[in-house]
Amino acid sequence: MAEMMNLLGIIGSPRKMGNCELMVKEIAAAVPGTPKLSMVRLVEKDIRPCKACYRCLTGDCPHPDDFTGVLRAIMEADAVIVAAPAYLRGTHSCIQRFLDRGLQAYRHVDALYGKPAVAVATAGVEDGEGSALLGVENFIRQLGLSLKGRAVVRATFPGDAIVFEEGRTTARRLAAALVSTDDYAPEGLSCPECKGTYFEFRKMGAIYCLSCGGAGTFSADGGKIGLVIGPPAHSWRKKEDMASHRKWLIGRREEFLRRRDRLKDAVKPYLGGEFI
Ligand SMILES: Cc1cc2nc3c(=O)[nH]c(=O)nc-3n(C[C@H](O)[C@H](O)[C@H](O)COP(=O)(O)O)c2cc1C
Repeated sequence: MAEMMNLLGIIGSPRKMGNCELMVKEIAAAVPGTPKLSMVRLVEKDIRPCKACYRCLTGDCPHPDDFTGVLRAIMEADAVIVAAPAYLRGTHSCIQRFLDRGLQAYRHVDALYGKPAVAVATAGVEDGEGSALLGVENFIRQLGLSLKGRAVVRATFPGDAIVFEEGRTTARRLAAALVSTDDYAPEGLSCPECKGTYFEFRKMGAIYCLSCGGAGTFSADGGKIGLVIGPPAHSWRKKEDMASHRKWLIGRREEFLRRRDRLKDAVKPYLGGEFI
């Protein structure tokens, strides 16, 4: 008998039985077989702000909070569903707050890299999602998981996500993507490096991919847009990149420790000030 699939649903909303929770359950229910779904409400977890000490690159994080337990659940899952609402045109802060601690993931690349995951952003306002989905996708990518599908789900009131056919259809599509062996293929134009779909247009003809940091050029020829994007100066997208990025960070930390006393002297005149 095939082993039961363990799904983890990460809910980035403070609402119980809100649209994110409903989408997680609807997607899980559409996954073939009878997967076991466990869920975590990130806002209920004690996830403290990263202290920027970089100790986690080589040892344990000094915060004795819930981060490690959630990271472990991600490592142990076969596949992950991440859903968060748009708040003020961004992603709910609990997603980034967790991700801020994500340098800890570099010691667990083998257990994380390539694990299938799908991203959902719920949004109550037409065209109101802003960068909400980008934040969820970034969460998935930065932890080394493999983005297999993504969607913005229009849902204003708690329940709308599954009351309307659009949400249910999206759930079926994402469930299929989660177990598909096909590569992720977003619709329309995407970064040739990483398949990201979020760009900054810089000076005339120059473009920057917000997902991988790759830069290049774009052109329009007879209504067709062409993108040429090279790898970023410093990549940590591929598995081997993640290992070398960790080494690089450890080196930077050592350099900082060597320069620390001189830097302390340099900033002395800036000591003090009024804080509210
Ligand atoms: C504080 C707050 C800010 C919101 N900001 C936006 C927004 O910028 N754009 C948008 O489309 N919807 C916004 N919404 C609506 C939610 O994204 C929407 O209702 C979503 O479905 C909530 O998901 P949930 O039920 O899982 O919490 C906001 C809701 C709240 C409570």
